[in-house]
Amino acid sequence: MVRVLFVCLGNICRSPMAEAVFQQMVDEADLSDQIDVDSAGTGSWHVGEKAHHGTRRVLAQHGIAYDGRARKISRQDMDPKTYVVAMDASNLSNLQALSSQHPRLYRLLDFSSQSAVRDVPDPYYSDNFDYVYDLVTDGCRGLLATIREQEGL
Ligand code: 4NP
Repeated sequence: MVRVLFVCLGNICRSPMAEAVFQQMVDEADLSDQIDVDSAGTGSWHVGEKAHHGTRRVLAQHGIAYDGRARKISRQDMDPKTYVVAMDASNLSNLQALSSQHPRLYRLLDFSSQSAVRDVPDPYYSDNFDYVYDLVTDGCRGLLATIREQEGL
């Protein structure tokens, strides 16, 4: 089983959106038996909560189901084989502090088709969930293609 873990700060806005979008792509590619998808946050403020209503709205508009609850990342999540995919540079440095030598630590937009933006901006204050959805979808497409190539799927 290939494991993919999306990580943001609160695990209520960006990483649940990435988890849901990527899970749908995995399902459509008939790879759900081979790729496990999850998300977590580096902060604990929202543990146990549903995704932010902005994330739920944008996912519902695109016909994507999601009923996950926020959780905080733990050291056990940082298995060296897991693709750990941060949303921005701040998440990345938090993850590096947790596991400094992790071999599969990425930023989602490393896999984007566009080079201009590397961080998925936090929509918690800005409310730009539609823009975040576009970025997340672009990054997830590239990530799935990379995983399929690297894992021979
Ligand atoms: P997320 O957004 O990291 O994309 O889930 C945030 C959610 C909550 C907070 C910050 C960012 N917060 O400060 O509570």
